[in-house]
Amino acid sequence: MRVAVTRRIPARGIEVLELAGCAVSVWPGDLPPSREELVRLAADADGLLTLLTDRIDGELLDALPNLKVISNMAVGHDNIDVDACTARGVVVCITPDVLTETTADFTWALILAVARRVCEAASTVRRGEWRTWEPLGFLGQDVHGATLGVVGFGRIGQAVARRALGFGMRVLYTDRTPVDASLENKYGARFVSLDELLGASDIVTLHVPLTRETYRLIGARELSSMKPTAILINTARGPVIDTAALVEALAAERLWGVGLDVTDPEPLPPDHPLLEFPNVLVTPHIASASEVTRQRMAELAAQNLISALRGERPPRSLNWDTIARKGA
Ligand code: NAP
Ligand code: GLV
Repeated sequence: MRVAVTRRIPARGIEVLELAGCAVSVWPGDLPPSREELVRLAADADGLLTLLTDRIDGELLDALPNLKVISNMAVGHDNIDVDACTARGVVVCITPDVLTETTADFTWALILAVARRVCEAASTVRRGEWRTWEPLGFLGQDVHGATLGVVGFGRIGQAVARRALGFGMRVLYTDRTPVDASLENKYGARFVSLDELLGASDIVTLHVPLTRETYRLIGARELSSMKPTAILINTARGPVIDTAALVEALAAERLWGVGLDVTDPEPLPPDHPLLEFPNVLVTPHIASASEVTRQRMAELAAQNLISALRGERPPRSLNWDTIARKGA
C-alpha cells in the first residue's frame, strides 16, 4: 500500500502506517504542497493523509485515479469535497473526539485571556512599562457568574459548556436541534435561538462546522445584537464570522473583546486591520495543538487510512457506509 502524507506529522502516525507495511512518502516542506506538488507526491498513492490546509476536490481526485482513501488529520472537513470523493468511491475519514478536550481547554484559554486582558497586560511588562500597581489599569470583565452562549452544541461546544460549571456561569446554547433534557440538566444549559443567545450572552463562543449554512453566520446584524460589553470567541472556522463586519463592529466599539484561533483569511496577514485593535487576540489555529492530542490525531488518521485500504470499516469515516452500500 502506497501512502502519501502532505506534511511532517507526529511520529506515531508514520509508525502506525509503516507497521502496517505501507510505503510512506512525506511532503518535506514547512508549507503545504501546491496542487502540482501534491499531484506529484501522490501520483501512485493508494491513500492520502491530508491536513486542513489541503484542498481536496474533483479536479485533484481526477488527477489521482489510484486513490482509495483521504484521511484528514482534523475533525473539520470543509477542505474536502466529500460528495466528489463519494462519487468516485474514495473513502473520507476524520479525527473527531481525540481533540475535543484539548480544543475546549484552548477555547477557555482565549476566553480568560480576552476577558482579563492577559496578553495586552503581559506585553507592557516586556516593554518595561510596569511602573506601579494601578487602580484603573487593565480592568477586564468577570468570567465567573457571566452568561456563556455556545453556538453549536456538539462535542467541543459541550466540553466548553462543562468547564463553565466551575465558573458558576449561566449557559445558553443554540444548535440545529436541542440536546436531550438530561444533557441540558447536566450542563445547566438552556436551548435558545441564535438571536436570543447573542442578545443575552456576555461571552459568545462558536463551535459549528463550516458549511454553506454557517458561512458568515455571524455578520453585521448578529454583531450589532450583541452587548457592547460582550466577548466573541471563535475556535471553529474563520469564515463563520464575516470579517469585514467584525472590523466595523470593533471600530464602532460595539464589542468589548474578541478571541480568534481561526480567521478569514487564514493565515491573517500582519497588516490586517483586525490586528490593529488591542482588544483582539489572534492565535494561529492551535486549539488542538497539545503534544498528546496531535499524536492521537496522527495515530487515528493513520488507523483510519489503513482500515479503509484493507477494505475494513475505518474507525471514523464520513462516507464508508454510502460507498459500501453502492458497492453491494
Ligand atoms: P460536532 O460534534 O459535529 O459539533 C458541531 C455542532 O454544530 C453539532 O451539534 C451540529 O449539529 C451543529 N451545527 C451544524 N450546523 C449548524 C447550523 N447551521 N446551525 C447550528 N448548529 C449547527 O463537531 P466538533 O467536534 O464539536 O467540532 C466543531 C468544529 O470545530 C469542527 O467542525 C472544526 O471546524 C472546529 N475545530 C477547530 C479546531 C481548532 O484547532 N481551532 C479544533 C477542532 C475543531 P448537527 O449534529 O445537527 O450536525
Ligand atoms: C482543526 O481545526 C480541526 O478541525 O481538527
